[in-house]
Amino acid sequence: MHLLGHCSSSRAAIFALLLSSIARAIDLDISDEQSIKDAASTSTYAMMKYYYGNETGQIPGAFPDKWWEGAPLFMALLEYWHFTGDTTYNEELSVGLQWQGGTDGDYMPGNYSSYLGNDDQMFWGLAAMTAAEFGFPDRSTGFSWLSLAQGVFNTQIKRWDTSSCGGGLRWQIWPYQSGYTMKNSISNGGLFQLSARLARYTGDAIYLQWANKIWDWSVSSPLLSNTTWNVADSAVVGDNCATQGNAQWTYNYGTYLMGAAYMYNYTNGTIQAQWLTAVNGLLNATFNNFFLTGGIIEDYYCEPTETCNNNEILFKGLTSSWLALTALLVPSTFDSILAKLQKSGQAAAASCTGHNNGTCGVQWYRSTWDGWMGMEEQISATKVFIANLINFNKTAPVTSTTGGNSTSNPTAGEDDTDGSNQMRTTTTTADKAGAGIVTAVFVAGWIGLMSFMMLGG
Ligand SMILES: *[C@@H]1O[C@H](CO)[C@@H](O)[C@H](O)[C@H]1NC(C)=O
Ligand SMILES: *[C@@H]1O[C@H](CO)[C@@H](O)[C@H](O)[C@H]1NC(C)=O
Ligand SMILES: *[C@@H]1O[C@H](CO)[C@@H](O)[C@H](O)[C@H]1NC(C)=O
Ligand SMILES: *[C@@H]1O[C@H](CO)[C@@H](O)[C@H](O)[C@H]1NC(C)=O
Ligand SMILES: *[C@@H]1O[C@H](CO)[C@@H](O)[C@H](O)[C@H]1NC(C)=O
Ligand SMILES: *[C@@H]1O[C@H](CO)[C@@H](O)[C@H](O)[C@H]1NC(C)=O
Ligand SMILES: *[C@@H]1O[C@H](CO)[C@@H](O)[C@H](O)[C@H]1NC(C)=O
Ligand SMILES: *[C@@H]1O[C@H](CO)[C@@H](O)[C@H](O)[C@H]1NC(C)=O
Ligand SMILES: *[C@@H]1O[C@H](CO)[C@@H](O)[C@H](O)[C@H]1NC(C)=O
Repeated sequence: MHLLGHCSSSRAAIFALLLSSIARAIDLDISDEQSIKDAASTSTYAMMKYYYGNETGQIPGAFPDKWWEGAPLFMALLEYWHFTGDTTYNEELSVGLQWQGGTDGDYMPGNYSSYLGNDDQMFWGLAAMTAAEFGFPDRSTGFSWLSLAQGVFNTQIKRWDTSSCGGGLRWQIWPYQSGYTMKNSISNGGLFQLSARLARYTGDAIYLQWANKIWDWSVSSPLLSNTTWNVADSAVVGDNCATQGNAQWTYNYGTYLMGAAYMYNYTNGTIQAQWLTAVNGLLNATFNNFFLTGGIIEDYYCEPTETCNNNEILFKGLTSSWLALTALLVPSTFDSILAKLQKSGQAAAASCTGHNNGTCGVQWYRSTWDGWMGMEEQISATKVFIANLINFNKTAPVTSTTGGNSTSNPTAGEDDTDGSNQMRTTTTTADKAGAGIVTAVFVAGWIGLMSFMMLGG
């Protein structure tokens, strides 16, 4: 990510205004299907400028120093193909998404597994699940999309930790990582969502059981309230989750909302009515908390101060896509969600006047380029553009009984000793050194900011 200084930033804004008659922005008519597809095409092209995985000598799907971000990028490519029909990127998407599954098919690849968080692995599982649900063809060899999602589920439920807080997943997997002392919403809400999606796709009871279990634990903890629908970021195991780190991020709401929407769509009767209450409560809170200036989605913990890190720039893109799927799975929410997505999509497009070449910024609510650029900005813009295509194509995620044919492997990932909660008794020095370095790079930004916010708020 490259950030211009404040002065250059406002100068850029003035230039953008002066040059607006000739500037190549992303022209978007939010009521026109082709216009949205064109905007998505432009931003996807710019997004893929940051992907080198299909070049000679490069590793498919690898994102050095920010491995998890490959998952949102591949999710954006899946959504792009599904809603536009453009197959341009399908081969590199297919190769990269499968490659990072690793030798055990559970997104714990040896190159990265010693410093992954549960959330990092989970996002790749959600990307694979999206591939299965969109009917993206399995490759003829290697792991199927569904089995990769099952591999993530199987390795993560083994890490369910009842030694504190009555249950829950920790943020990080390994004790030598600082986030190991926390239980957080994105890890637990992520596995909840993955379980709900696997339940709906396969109809297997184990996934439904876990989705209910993770939800029930979450509402019993300070992470998720089923009365105010506040979603906190994290809790600390040291005090048995009595302390709440109440940093507010779109994706924490989005992931619980998405899981609840799948549960609503999959269940019946009074149970279904309870999930509808959860969907409406979380949706209402998401609208109230994050659709602020001009009714445009905003991660207000970092945007006004221009302090968003790479992770945080992705949150509202992820949330926009989850809102779009919620609208399809819970039809009564469609109109209110579409109205929000339209305003946000229009504003995001107006932020894409950077460098005269479709470079998009962070603060969509400014409706002009704010001087920020990077892969994360392009992913989020792409995702909100495509989210708007639900207005024209209501093709919902499929299941194994409605056309989904990705091959199931209920025991996927279970042979991976590296991925279980059986902590390796011998962590090599190299592992630790590697972990230390990467932790410093990754976590300094993210955890540092979160801890800061937790202390501050
Ligand atoms: C847009 O221009 C910037 C600055 O020259 C460049 O870094 C970026 O790669 C360009 N993007 C595209 C999609 O051409
Ligand atoms: C990588 O994929 C892009 C399409 O996104 C294509 O233009 C490019 O030629 C591919 N590169 C290689 C080395 O296959
Ligand atoms: C909607 O998207 C699906 C999945 O990509 C595709 O098969 C279908 O043809 C599309 N329908 C329309 C009306 O564009
Ligand atoms: C792990 O790294 C090796 C060596 O660079 C590479 O060949 C392999 O493809 C990588 N695997 C993954 C899953 O990234
Ligand atoms: C599975 O479905 C996809 C999408 O409809 C199709 O392209 C593919 O050929 C099917 N695969 C098999 C093995 O039937
Ligand atoms: C809310 O969660 C609590 C557990 O903390 C549970 O006892 C209660 O039944 C839930 N309320 C609703 C309406 O689901
Ligand atoms: C919902 O009801 C239908 C019809 O009674 C039944 O086949 C299905 O198994 C039920 N789904 C769940 C998740 O209970
Ligand atoms: C929606 O949010 C408003 C404002 O916080 C609140 O007054 C209302 O009760 C909420 N409605 C639901 C269904 O949660
Ligand atoms: C589940 O989602 C499908 C696909 O959008 C939709 O047609 C159906 O009405 C939903 N089910 C319920 C109970 O709303």
